Amino acid sequence: MKKLLIANWKMNPVTLDEARDLFDATEKFAEKYGARVVVAPPFTHLEELINRALKKEYEGIHFGAQDAFWEDAGAFTGEISPKMLRNLGVSYAIIGHSERRMILHETDEMINKKIIACEAAGLKVILCVGEPREVRDKGLNAAKDYVKSQLEADLKNIQTLYPIPQTPDPIIVAYEPIWAIGTGVPDKPQDSANMARFIKELLMAKPHTPKRASPSDFSLNPLILYGGSVTASNAELFLSEKDIDGALVGGASLSAEEFGKIIKIATEGIANGV
Ligand code: PGA
Repeated sequence: MKKLLIANWKMNPVTLDEARDLFDATEKFAEKYGARVVVAPPFTHLEELINRALKKEYEGIHFGAQDAFWEDAGAFTGEISPKMLRNLGVSYAIIGHSERRMILHETDEMINKKIIACEAAGLKVILCVGEPREVRDKGLNAAKDYVKSQLEADLKNIQTLYPIPQTPDPIIVAYEPIWAIGTGVPDKPQDSANMARFIKELLMAKPHTPKRASPSDFSLNPLILYGGSVTASNAELFLSEKDIDGALVGGASLSAEEFGKIIKIATEGIANGV
């Protein structure tokens, strides 16, 4: 299975013109290498870029929202619902990003409600989890305990998350240690792979997991991505780990050249056994 790349543009770029240019260049690389890419631009650029993608032949690019609210419609000033996003042609939603957890004080309870609403609307969730520096300083086991409690709270009472109705793909979790995001200091690939394996085992042990999800059936297993200072120079180290199914790329996805190199590694590199 191809490694999955998510381009999280965060609150960038400012103008639609820049967004069009970045998208076109990204799309060219994705098409050239036959990559599976989800582009997650700001809400304001989604419609234009989705329409642009429809005019292109390549079908390997999908769109993600960087967040979604937990109600379908109503008096919720400033919010955007999963149904609205689905109607627009968005397929994925990043939920629980650490920047939202920290800056906007999003709680596990809110994240849980958002996941349930996205699932009901048919949006595929990319759930972000990850520990702060002070936890990781206590060791990888402390980080695992932290991530486990995040997952338990975020996925509470979710019975049908896996697999999401009408999508053949399993649940996606992005492991993003907070101290590695935007700092230029990535995790050690072996540690992230170890964490990815831990998350996979945890999710597969969840009681709602259907029996057919056996570890040998990879296509039905959860997908675990790594995120945090992924660049063209270190992508190969993460993407060649068999337990890491892809990458969530922030800063480096804002340069099509840099992201193009990551796309090449995620496709050609893996195929050649990098
Ligand atoms: P970064 O961001 O690649 O800039 O570290 C990753 C993320 O926040 O998802």
